[in-house]
Amino acid sequence: MAGTRGEFSSRLGFILAASGSAVGLGNIWGFPTQAASNGGAAFLLMYLLMAFLLAYPALMAELIIGRHAKANIVSALRQVSNTTFSRFVASLSGFAGIITASLILAFYAIVAGWMIAFAAGPVMGAAGQEEVAGWLTGFGHGRNLAFMLIFMLMTCLIISGGVQQGIEKWSTRLMPLLIIILLALIAYVMTLPGAMQGIKVYLLPDFGRSFNFQLIVNALGQAFFSLSLGVGTMLVYGSYVSKTENIASLGRAITLIDIGIAVLAGLLIIPAMYVAQHNGVEIFDAAGKLIGEDTLIFTVLPALFSTMGDTGIVVGVAFFVLMTIAALTSSISLLESPVSYVTEVHGLSRRAAAFLVSAVITLISAIIVFNFGDLFVFVITLTTRYAQPLLGLMLCLFAGWIWHRNHVLEEIKAGFESAEQSFFWRIWPAYIRYVCPVVILTVFGQKVLG
Ligand code: PFF
Repeated sequence: MAGTRGEFSSRLGFILAASGSAVGLGNIWGFPTQAASNGGAAFLLMYLLMAFLLAYPALMAELIIGRHAKANIVSALRQVSNTTFSRFVASLSGFAGIITASLILAFYAIVAGWMIAFAAGPVMGAAGQEEVAGWLTGFGHGRNLAFMLIFMLMTCLIISGGVQQGIEKWSTRLMPLLIIILLALIAYVMTLPGAMQGIKVYLLPDFGRSFNFQLIVNALGQAFFSLSLGVGTMLVYGSYVSKTENIASLGRAITLIDIGIAVLAGLLIIPAMYVAQHNGVEIFDAAGKLIGEDTLIFTVLPALFSTMGDTGIVVGVAFFVLMTIAALTSSISLLESPVSYVTEVHGLSRRAAAFLVSAVITLISAIIVFNFGDLFVFVITLTTRYAQPLLGLMLCLFAGWIWHRNHVLEEIKAGFESAEQSFFWRIWPAYIRYVCPVVILTVFGQKVLG
């Protein structure tokens, strides 16, 4: 099979695809809303620490294992294992990763569908189609199902195109567009009254809160979700990287882009909230905290856009298109994890595998749509709160304890000859062996207990 596997055509293609996976709703929605409700810059500071000190080393574990094995997560973890028991654990962790990726995609597609609907809503309203606009922006099974289907179809079509013609082609088109829209929106919001107060809240840390344990837990969870760790997406993207590339520097680039875009998104969302307040929109809840989560995205921001007249329509559409793009470049990586397994292990063609896996995930997603109250939050909690950190831990254990250290070094040296003398190699092995597992376990324990 190895001969038929895809490979990214260039370094930039890989960086845009992998940072496309990382940059998603987690950056543009999750990070700013968490920052808003966790002391602004205090959260930002802790997030930066967690991302560089823990998420980056864990990302490297996935990329290195992937590039070495040139295979999907199940086969890759089995390849680096050397006993019957570790191969058994490898299969178990690999399958758990694939299932988790599928479940994340099942809820992600629903949320992404809302973004498309909210992008279309104001356009319909402006065209005099008030009823359609109301349907698009109101909550309902029909709307949720229709737009989830549209989003899943887009994801499936891109993945069925393959690594270069699907993932790379679309990531290199969409990521620059995402950055342009984000910068344009920030520049516009900065000119509006109230924005400066938002910037102050965001950038002046309330140091008393940086060291609060819950804040650390949230920042770590956010960093892991944001870097798409634990479910085989980064591993499989790593498996499409050429042996001539310096993998440590690629990982650094992805981490920097992911963090950079989260920080930029904060510069959009938090000032926008204070502009909304200036325009008379309520931005604090009954308890006096900044409104976050879905109310922020689907109530506060649309209320802000509607105070801006015709400009508000353009700004609103641009914002929800930005969200849709961010979601799409992430969802393709989520689908690629199970699809790579089905093509490589069961011998299906990529197209057949993409449609088959998408059909199964769409079905799960539809079940969530029709049992929204019972399943939506449950699936999010199960996957992002429990499965992702635990699987991230497993990947660190594979890279740090199960795979032989000399083989790890050999893999890093491909494309980075002086790796052995580098700062990276002096720090990373111990990190992945001790620091990452201990911190993840501590945080995980705290989450479960707390
Ligand atoms: N990193 C994406 C985000 O920040 O929205 C979410 C995600 C994508 C998580 C891919 C996991 C994954 F495998």
